[in-house]
Amino acid sequence: MGKTRSSRVFVGVGTAMALMAAMAVSVSGHDYGDALRKSILFFEGQRSGKLPPSQRMTWRKDSGLRDGAQIGVDLVGGYYDAGDNVKFNFPMAFSTTMLAWSVVEFRRSMGPDLPHALDAIRWATDYFLKATSVPGIVFAQVGEPYGDHNCWERPEDMDTPRTPYAVSAQFPGSEVSAEIAAALAAASLAFRHDDRPYSRQLLKRAETVFEFADKYKGSYNDHLGPSVCPFYCDFSGYVDELLWAASWLYKATKAPKYWNYVVDNRHYLNYYNLKTFYSVPFVGGSFAEFGWDTKHAGFNVLSSKVVLKNNNYTDNFVVNSDKFVCSVLPESPTKYVSYSPGGLLVKPGGSNLQHATALSFLLVVYARYLNRTNQVIQCGNVKATPDRLIQLAKGQVDYILGSNPTNMSYMVGYGGKFPQKIHHRGSSLPSLDQHPQRIGCKDGTPYFASSGPNPNQLTGAVVGGPNIQDWYDDSRVDIAHSEPTTYINAPLVGVLAFFNN
Ligand SMILES: *[C@@H]1O[C@H](CO)[C@@H](O)[C@H](O)[C@H]1NC(C)=O
Ligand SMILES: *[C@@H]1O[C@H](CO)[C@@H](O)[C@H](O)[C@H]1NC(C)=O
Ligand SMILES: *[C@@H]1O[C@H](CO)[C@@H](O)[C@H](O)[C@H]1NC(C)=O
Repeated sequence: MGKTRSSRVFVGVGTAMALMAAMAVSVSGHDYGDALRKSILFFEGQRSGKLPPSQRMTWRKDSGLRDGAQIGVDLVGGYYDAGDNVKFNFPMAFSTTMLAWSVVEFRRSMGPDLPHALDAIRWATDYFLKATSVPGIVFAQVGEPYGDHNCWERPEDMDTPRTPYAVSAQFPGSEVSAEIAAALAAASLAFRHDDRPYSRQLLKRAETVFEFADKYKGSYNDHLGPSVCPFYCDFSGYVDELLWAASWLYKATKAPKYWNYVVDNRHYLNYYNLKTFYSVPFVGGSFAEFGWDTKHAGFNVLSSKVVLKNNNYTDNFVVNSDKFVCSVLPESPTKYVSYSPGGLLVKPGGSNLQHATALSFLLVVYARYLNRTNQVIQCGNVKATPDRLIQLAKGQVDYILGSNPTNMSYMVGYGGKFPQKIHHRGSSLPSLDQHPQRIGCKDGTPYFASSGPNPNQLTGAVVGGPNIQDWYDDSRVDIAHSEPTTYINAPLVGVLAFFNN
């Protein structure tokens, strides 16, 4: 679609290319409002459950309507995490926390998309209220991942085992429980102005779930094993989620007990020898870590606001947030991430754009906190002003939207040239409207193997992105680069709202 069409925006982007190649400031030319609208619309394509009449992405239909029925618990709803049909609550909760944080910080820049952003949050929080409705239990996942991944099947046709997985006092999972508590607390703040009873309900549940997560400490890796690992294995321990949740609960309740928890326990973060898939220890690099697994940088930036309000620039939250900035700033002597020749932030592992969006989110949020008191960060002998942080984030967003050496927008449906063969079951199989007959598990394989473009446009989906040489294959088989995920988009929603201002 539109591969050869040259829009006004696209032409504007082209003229910025020479500058981008030199890693200079990007020239905008981007329609951030359009990108914002699409980044939120994407979540409608990931919906599980009974779709409402307001559904705008109409090629998607109801799915997973019996989730939880085999054990008599209603677990219908929530989001598929990416290109498959499993509901992984751990990354789903992180995506929800980030959607909520986006609204908390940037609601005034969302314009007509604010109600859609709130709908996107509610789609998850309604589900999390169900997943935490049985006292003493938190549901961690619905769907057996090996069975699911073995099929190339529309969510609407699913006949794979929809196994529900839970953690409990005896088999704890503090990371998944605490991240759900963080999501509920952050969402309670997002809804505070728009739906007070719902906001109160979310906050009350967040407190109960946090208490459970903290009282029964343990990792879901140890109890759910092969059902969560290697898919969403918790590599960095659960202490970061407990602290992150407590910081959100403090923000939402202002109860001193949560702030005391945060301050009294934050040193435990240092004890974890964080490992990546590649067994590369994060020595010194944990300051730059922020994603569905590791919350360090987000926890520090979120908490820094509290001490910055008291003009306390020596507190560790500020010191660590500054270290975060110094680990991502290209000109910093303590830079810990890499940059492609075209200027994209790159870290090891797949789905790289999750780092570009999540770290850009923190850069703009922290820049705003610092700007209030005119703070400048010192990275060795390099100075970083709030404006510089914003410029860096803008470069990442513009790159994602098409200001890059291949002139490719990595957001489906944005710009003149964007990925056509994303790794996504629903998008790559004909819709129920086009093909009402069931397409069984292996009957989807020809569609997966096809060299043609996906029939359904998953508008707003941001894929894993190019490699470190700025190259993108647009291949459905190349999962690490062509699969969209909710946690790539969620932080981007906030960043796009900020630049939409
Ligand atoms: C990208 O666009 C610029 C400006 O129109 C053009 O010079 C360049 O050749 C394009 N690059 C690719 C890979 O299409
Ligand atoms: C500021 O931070 C330092 C270091 O954490 C702490 O010792 C001090 O009590 C804080 N001051 C205020 C006013 O919060
Ligand atoms: C920083 O503060 C200045 C002066 O109040 C304001 O004009 C500017 O918009 C602020 N920038 C950000 C990113 O908040």
